[in-house]
Amino acid sequence: MAVSQPLQQMRFGSIKSCVADAHCLKSERPAPRFDARGECVVILLRCPVLHDPNHNPIALPDEAATTAFAARLAHALLPGLVVYLRGDLGAGKTTLVRALLHALGYEGRVKSPTYTLLERYEAGRLHLRHFDLYRFRDVEEWEGSGFRDEFDGHNICLVEWPEQASGLLPPADISITFGILQDGREIVLHAYTPAGQKCLDALPA
Ligand SMILES: Nc1ncnc2c1ncn2[C@@H]1O[C@H](COP(=O)(O)OP(=O)(O)OP(=O)(O)O)[C@@H](O)[C@H]1O
Ligand SMILES: [Mg+2]
Repeated sequence: MAVSQPLQQMRFGSIKSCVADAHCLKSERPAPRFDARGECVVILLRCPVLHDPNHNPIALPDEAATTAFAARLAHALLPGLVVYLRGDLGAGKTTLVRALLHALGYEGRVKSPTYTLLERYEAGRLHLRHFDLYRFRDVEEWEGSGFRDEFDGHNICLVEWPEQASGLLPPADISITFGILQDGREIVLHAYTPAGQKCLDALPA
């Protein structure tokens, strides 16, 4: 396990733990493993929230507001970003992805990957991957379907229901958390890595 910056090491009985910043482990899955002496090593990820939460939440009173926010996000997105989209069923995650793709110039139909789990798009020079992991159950499928390979540092990966594949997914650069209000929706943005922070800082007003 290449932990470039172990911040702290601890021992709980026979289990050795190591704390590292999530972005230092971006290309690896932090599964428990055994070191050269046969001791179980668990990596605990530290996920600092870099984005100033004072800028949040953002009100999206109707779909037009979601479309307008998507246009702002389209200006700031960078290749390789991993974006977790959190929120209840019907919270507006797919609506945002659809508007984002259209804002980036994609002209085709954007359907929810409810059953396919993944849809792939090319928009301009960007490669986007839209996951909906609500129905994801089978850990074997993660490797078998090539999902892991999609997180290659170039694709922009937008992931609905990331909690369904926790431990398999690379950590997020950004999370967008949707809330359902009586009138429309609201979103809260968080950056967890310098790349995510750079994107949120670049959001046009
Ligand atoms: N800002 C908004 N204000 C009001 N309604 C919205 C807004 N954004 C989306 N909606 C509506 O919410 C409904 C559900 O949206 P959507 O399919 O995007 O949710 P979702 O979060 O992707 O759900 P799921 O978890 O089931 O995939 C749609 O009918 C859409 O028109
Ligand atoms: Mg959806």
